[in-house]
Amino acid sequence: MGNIAVAKRLDPIAFAGIRKVFEKANQLEAQGKKVIHFEIGRPDFDTPVHIKEAAKQALDKGLVHYAPNGGIPALREALAQRLKADKNLNYNPDTEIIITAGGQEALYLSFLSILDEGDEVILPDPCFGPFPLAVGLAGGVPVKIGLQPSQNYGYDWEAVKKALSPRTKAIIVNSPHNPTGGVWSEEQLKTVAAFACEHDLWLICDDAYDHLIYAGCRLSPAAFPGMRERTILCGSLSKTYAMTGWRIGYIAAIEPIIGAAIRLQQNIMLSLCTFAQHGAVAGLTGSQDCVRAMAAEFARRRQLVMEMVRQIPGIELDGMPKGAFYVFPRITLPNITSAQVADYLLDKAGVAVVDGLAFGVSGNGHFRLSYAVSYEDCREGLERIATAMKVLAQKQ
Ligand SMILES: Cc1ncc(COP(=O)(O)O)c(C=O)c1O
Repeated sequence: MGNIAVAKRLDPIAFAGIRKVFEKANQLEAQGKKVIHFEIGRPDFDTPVHIKEAAKQALDKGLVHYAPNGGIPALREALAQRLKADKNLNYNPDTEIIITAGGQEALYLSFLSILDEGDEVILPDPCFGPFPLAVGLAGGVPVKIGLQPSQNYGYDWEAVKKALSPRTKAIIVNSPHNPTGGVWSEEQLKTVAAFACEHDLWLICDDAYDHLIYAGCRLSPAAFPGMRERTILCGSLSKTYAMTGWRIGYIAAIEPIIGAAIRLQQNIMLSLCTFAQHGAVAGLTGSQDCVRAMAAEFARRRQLVMEMVRQIPGIELDGMPKGAFYVFPRITLPNITSAQVADYLLDKAGVAVVDGLAFGVSGNGHFRLSYAVSYEDCREGLERIATAMKVLAQKQ
């Protein structure tokens, strides 16, 4: 092959499975069909008005220039205060917090900051797609561990212990978890913290859904004794404040990590959108009623979804989704793959879900359903799934 080719480094990077579903759903809509979008992993709410107003005011004031590489001081200060108020965590806003382009960039900067070539990172399977990719692009090796649905979708600890090697550098916690909605118990969080301490590992905590917990533990492992020094919090305003398009996330960690991340940021993004950061300050410092109201609506939908999913033939919920806005039912029908079921539901029922395989091999045989659509659409979509699955079950 000549030089005019794409780098081999990109070979493992395919378009996310979700994109295929989304495109097909759009085609069906273009033909005039109503599709229920259970595939999309983002809140359906608008960003609260006071956040938009603050961004508009920043624009009117001419705050349109580069921001500091680490983020505007007011936003880092607001984050430090929120982490204190919500999780009793103490981070110095000047040296221990960096603003990132969403939680996703926070993950990339974190792995680039801690991994040497060949270092291994223990992560869940199924998982948010960028975990293994980000580890790989940073020179690391993703070590995927299956989850136990009956244990809040926690790690299978026997498998974790077997996977441990002299090259293990970090372990990921993502609670609430995408794609299962699992939320770990306090005991499970303490177990992973103790494991990280015992084996001298970094704990990467993906907190993208930390304000969408309907049952289960809200503690941060960073608050446990000895954990502040080895925990890297990767957080986001995307899901909490319905701000996915604003691209505001953060890392909170000890100074050397934030220092490294800022050096990277300076050379990659340079800085984040200045007026978006001013909007984010209003979100963090203003009333949190909007956050509670959105979470309450998700909780109401979750109740409906769980009740309806349990009545549908051919699928089963093995675990209890206690957070985020996902459920991850297992397909119990023989002789059909989850990819075929997802295609069938879109073609025959006009309901878009994501094949569980898109989240890793352990997701095979499942699909992810996101209830980030209106209550009415949740009901209609699940009725459509029920009708379609009855037909499928009878055919088998
Ligand atoms: C587990 C998890 N982490 C991080 C992210 C990144 O979100 P954002 O970059 O919008 O903050 C997502 C988005 O879906 C996610 O599901």
